[in-house]
Amino acid sequence: MRIGELDIDRPVILAPMEDVTDRSFRRICKRFGADIVYTEFISSEALRRGIDKIVHKMRLEERERPAVIQLFGDSPEAMAEAASIAESVGPLCIDLNFGCPAKKVAGRGAGAALLKEPEKMARITAAVVKAVSVPVTVKTRLGWDLESINILDIVPRLEDAGIAALAIHGRTRSEMYRGNADWDWIARVKERAEVPVIANGDIWTAHDALAMFSHTGADAIMIGRGSIGNPFIFRQVKELLREGAVRTAAGFRDRIAVAVEHLRLSVEFKGEKRGTLEMRRHYATYLKGLPRVSRVRNLLVREEDWRQVIDILLSYESECEGYEREGKIREYAEFLNDHSKRLVLK
Ligand SMILES: Cc1cc2nc3c(=O)[nH]c(=O)nc-3n(C[C@H](O)[C@H](O)[C@H](O)COP(=O)(O)O)c2cc1C
Repeated sequence: MRIGELDIDRPVILAPMEDVTDRSFRRICKRFGADIVYTEFISSEALRRGIDKIVHKMRLEERERPAVIQLFGDSPEAMAEAASIAESVGPLCIDLNFGCPAKKVAGRGAGAALLKEPEKMARITAAVVKAVSVPVTVKTRLGWDLESINILDIVPRLEDAGIAALAIHGRTRSEMYRGNADWDWIARVKERAEVPVIANGDIWTAHDALAMFSHTGADAIMIGRGSIGNPFIFRQVKELLREGAVRTAAGFRDRIAVAVEHLRLSVEFKGEKRGTLEMRRHYATYLKGLPRVSRVRNLLVREEDWRQVIDILLSYESECEGYEREGKIREYAEFLNDHSKRLVLK
């Protein structure tokens, strides 16, 4: 896929996720092989007003580049102004969020609400394209609901407005995150689009990623929830694409080591208090499926001192070594090459 200065064969992309894809998580996903990472969505109004916390969200480090800054809003002027502020940070591109189903966004006429106003969507896009010199991309859904799927009407409008690529989540707004993403619709979008298409929705394993490429013919794939607590997925997709098989596992030692690294980065970037608090949402996914984990999870989400959190994680690692010796945790190399669970508990 060619975008701006960048030319990568079958890129694997970290999806934008509010409260998840902050600097620390982006850095970790990058280290595991994500080709491109997205920031959390950023309110164009808040950015325009220079609100500190929001300006902070678009800070990009050298080592996480190429990175994309995602904006949301419902006004062409605010979006254009915010985009030129975001451009000063040097992102690979500016992405416009026309897919968020949440009430606080879509309820105010932004995000997925713009699927009901394709003309306005195109006007916002054209205003942003005019305001910046980096490429502008759009991330959206299939339509507002199953009765009003209009993505094939939207694609040429966005292309006329000057987008450089389109990321498409194969659900409608009404579906939120329910049911299955419709990969057939993504394939139709790819057939119609002249710009590169980034396919998104329900990639949970490396094999799903490969299937998404072949089912849709997309130029790139984007992984969201499948990477939470599991940044290893990027390395595994790369192995599968290059070598035809997944080579590396993600056992309890890897998971705990990355959880510790994530916490350290979170504290470094956000300070001791916020960094520790905001990590709480991640422990359940890092430790998912491990034996007797609920007691440890409860301790982790109550502890306020990050050094103590690390101690709890490391002592749980020793506990898991015991379970391993007793044969209670078996890691299968071969499970990585099918769709079964990562850890098989006896
Ligand atoms: C916690 C969470 C936060 C999200 N925040 C954003 C966001 O800020 N911008 C956006 O375009 N999509 C956001 N999404 C949607 C994802 O980018 C992605 O489109 C969706 O989760 C489907 O992909 P997946 O099945 O790989 O998770 C979010 C999803 C989740 C689960």
